[in-house]
Amino acid sequence: MMRPPIKGSSILVTGGAGFIGSHLVDRLQDLGAREVVVIDNMFLGSEANLAGALEQGAVLYKDDAEIASSLEYIFSRHDIDIVFNAATKALNYSFVNPSNAFNTNVNVVMNLLELQRKGSFQTLCHFSTSEVYGTAVYEPMDEKHPINPTTTYAAGKAAADIALQSWVRMCDLDAFIVRPFNNYGPRQNYKGYLAGVIPITAWKILNGLPPEIHGGGNQTRDFIFVLDTVDAIVKLYDRLAPGESVNISTDGQISIRDVIHKITRNMGYQGEILEKPARKADVECHNASNAKVRGMIDYRLTPFDQGLSETLAWYRDNIR
Ligand SMILES: NC(=O)c1ccc[n+]([C@@H]2O[C@H](COP(=O)([O-])OP(=O)(O)OC[C@H]3O[C@@H](n4cnc5c(N)ncnc54)[C@H](O)[C@@H]3O)[C@@H](O)[C@H]2O)c1
Repeated sequence: MMRPPIKGSSILVTGGAGFIGSHLVDRLQDLGAREVVVIDNMFLGSEANLAGALEQGAVLYKDDAEIASSLEYIFSRHDIDIVFNAATKALNYSFVNPSNAFNTNVNVVMNLLELQRKGSFQTLCHFSTSEVYGTAVYEPMDEKHPINPTTTYAAGKAAADIALQSWVRMCDLDAFIVRPFNNYGPRQNYKGYLAGVIPITAWKILNGLPPEIHGGGNQTRDFIFVLDTVDAIVKLYDRLAPGESVNISTDGQISIRDVIHKITRNMGYQGEILEKPARKADVECHNASNAKVRGMIDYRLTPFDQGLSETLAWYRDNIR
């Protein structure tokens, strides 16, 4: 497979001012990318996430990757070899604006596939999500698990995955799919209703508000530390065949109730925890198989308690 090496390449990261994308940008620079370019419409991303990267020469376009001409402009100014597509509107946004969350997940990848087909760049690494599997039909969920989205966010992601695979087959493109499970870590958005459970709990405690458990808290998730995900992605980069997908998960499950108790313990919170009703369409269980990724790379996982305390330390320093 003739894939351009990360070292020495010019790389575009869509959604690169966001949580996972910004850590990926840092890593690509560390690996010696010739140039790292970011397009982010700042829906949830922040320039602060890229502070170090911008100092190291990364270029940020605050623009919308759903608009083909925004991408074309960037390709006309930079000789991009590789694209990592990490742009998305947060899952929670699909609960308030279902079609828009769906559209973003589909439109960005369609624009990229068409540009790739026309020769604008060589290789596409696309971010899918464990959400495409929906509630587990069997466990642990491997890459052959049925695609059964319960949210429009996940439906858009599933559509994007299938689109990518069809463009690969029809047009012979070099594009593949990485499928992270629930990530946590420094820089994950903590503001407002789009925040995930770890950041929102940290934010509440730091602001003197009681944390909440929704729907009993027995739902389980496979939480993976963001730097482990990024490490796996850059190692998988030259291993995955065109059209192939791989889960990036820990193979461990933790209940939301346990996560919240670990956070309150770590932060010395002894107040009450509010019990709230379940959110419609929340999946019950996400227990993933990581046998495939373990077989492909030297796979390193940070223990949850260690990752969580690094994350909470970051929130303590960054939330006021
Ligand atoms: N965080 C997780 O737990 C998780 C799990 C599985 C998959 N993923 C996937 O990883 C990728 C990155 O997720 P994240 O957690 O870093 O989310 P994030 O929201 O922090 O980052 C996404 C970025 O995309 C930007 N964006 C949104 N719409 C855009 C548009 N039209 N044009 C340009 N930029 C746009 C946002 O401003 C944001 O900075 C996504 O594809 C997501 O589906 C994340």
